[in-house]
Amino acid sequence: MCGIVGYIGKQDCVPILYDGLARLEYRGYDSAGIAISDHGQVHVVKAEGKLVQLKPKLSQLPPGASRGIGHTRWATHGVPNTVNAHPHIHANVALVHNGIIENYLPLKQQLQAEGVVFASETDTEVVLQLFVRELARLQHPFKAVLAMIPQLRGAFSLGIILGEEPDAIYAVKQGSPLVIGAGKGEYFFASDAMALVSHTSRAHFLSDGEIARITANSLEIWNFAGQRVEPDFVELDISSSSTEKQGFKHYMLKEVHEQPRVMASMLKRLVDIEKATFNDQELGLNTLDLGRIDSICMVACGTAYYSALLGKYLIEPAVQLPVNVELASEFRYRKPWISKNTLFIAVSQSGETADTLATVKQAKQAGCQIMAVCNVKMSSIAREAHVTLHMDAGPEIGVASTKAFTAMLLAHHLFGLAFGVRKGLVSPAQARLACDLMRELPARMDHALDGKVAIEALADKYYEANNFIFMGRGTSYAVALEGALKLKEISYIHAEGYAGGELKHGPIALIDRHMPVVAIAPLGPYHEKMLSNIEEVKARQGQIIGVGSVDDAQLRRLSRDFIACPSSEDPGLQAILSVVPLQLLAYYIAVKRGTDVDQPRNLAKSVTVE
Ligand code: G6P
Repeated sequence: MCGIVGYIGKQDCVPILYDGLARLEYRGYDSAGIAISDHGQVHVVKAEGKLVQLKPKLSQLPPGASRGIGHTRWATHGVPNTVNAHPHIHANVALVHNGIIENYLPLKQQLQAEGVVFASETDTEVVLQLFVRELARLQHPFKAVLAMIPQLRGAFSLGIILGEEPDAIYAVKQGSPLVIGAGKGEYFFASDAMALVSHTSRAHFLSDGEIARITANSLEIWNFAGQRVEPDFVELDISSSSTEKQGFKHYMLKEVHEQPRVMASMLKRLVDIEKATFNDQELGLNTLDLGRIDSICMVACGTAYYSALLGKYLIEPAVQLPVNVELASEFRYRKPWISKNTLFIAVSQSGETADTLATVKQAKQAGCQIMAVCNVKMSSIAREAHVTLHMDAGPEIGVASTKAFTAMLLAHHLFGLAFGVRKGLVSPAQARLACDLMRELPARMDHALDGKVAIEALADKYYEANNFIFMGRGTSYAVALEGALKLKEISYIHAEGYAGGELKHGPIALIDRHMPVVAIAPLGPYHEKMLSNIEEVKARQGQIIGVGSVDDAQLRRLSRDFIACPSSEDPGLQAILSVVPLQLLAYYIAVKRGTDVDQPRNLAKSVTVE
């Protein structure tokens, strides 16, 4: 989604802003721009497409300016083109925006009636024109910001520079995230801490309803009521090397390969495998009032939602409480009945997904205990929740989520087990067995990655397919959903995931000799049932790609192609292992099709608008 960067200090701001935008590229965008202020004059360059399109235009900016703002735009109102790209500029003011102004139309009509002529189709230009109007009236930039804000409805994080006020820059946060980094005699700000880490590790996360006036040597913050707020600086713990590709062709491939290490470090932090005990503090259990919880509601979007679907299979039997799983975008508007005794678990890699964040606020208002399962420590959802189970999987840059998915699964699994232990429902012997199986997880995952050569060869065979079906049962059902999502996200092949038992209720009509069907059929309680479902597909000439245990002769016999995957007796750990070959299959098919694997078309990493 849209990304904002800003700089004020003594250095030439253009390379800093460009580098910041490059670090936000992963969020997804379709045009970009930079505005600077030089000798009382604001200048702007913008380009449709990727940052490489913007780069040659940078030389049009006067050199040496030490204050500016930049933006990557993910189109909402108006097509992606240069005119609609930010920064928008008028009357020597430049403005960038992340969010959506819900009442932009009446505001635009009102401004047009007053004679304002709009250059773009964006909601953002309305904000700029409102600001310029208030500035003309009040002759004071801060007062103009304060006067403009109550007129806006929706989400609006802003960066503003004015030619007339050469030593300051304004940042406003409402909805979409904004973080300010402090250097020596300079400040940076961005939608995402990732854009700051090569410059500073000292940062203040603006809260909703805050305005910052930033100069090279000072940071002043007010709330929307005009009262001063003291900045609260924290140390960022992202290293700039963790945001590099480290020799891999794509971030996605790097992140797929990081999974064994992520699993190992999560286990180290959250479990004592030798003693078969859990770190209740880090798992959130010490903070929650466990006795009050009579049900659990897990809410998320995208891959995080599929992790939650799988989480239900793991947590419900361990804690013997009903676990309801919902899409955040549906939950927030369907007038859900929320009991205060429900434990509300918001699952989000970024911790910024607008719909998920909205449900957290809703559930908080209903009096629920809120737990976040997040990968970004200071994210909005983590800060809003009563307690956060941090995944600590490290920055995930590839738009298609991989290591965050498996980290979420492990987090749900450990939470369920530890809560079950606290309720006396998971016995010491069961905890012991679970821990013994977990000990094997990182090595088995490494082994799953060894299958990549065979999977790459398989991709050669299937990359021209127009459709794919993925099927699984039990915890493999959510794996099938996630496998299909990975494929469609990065290869643009139409793919659907189904529960094996559902196939005959419709999807089987799609099966013919052209349809590849990825059947996730690990050994275990669902194995026989899956084999029957596979037979049904095979009888209709579907091309079975079996994913299962290396010594599963039956599955091999039924499969046209076979992907051997390491096994685990634990269905949660099995799901973590089974998804790895599907990530690799999607990756290699996408590479063969020549798509932009890390930044697939139309997608955004962090969906900060609803
Ligand atoms: C976007 C991303 C997905 C992600 C979803 C939820 O759609 O492209 O990869 O699963 O948002 O994101 P979250 O950060 O809340 O997990």
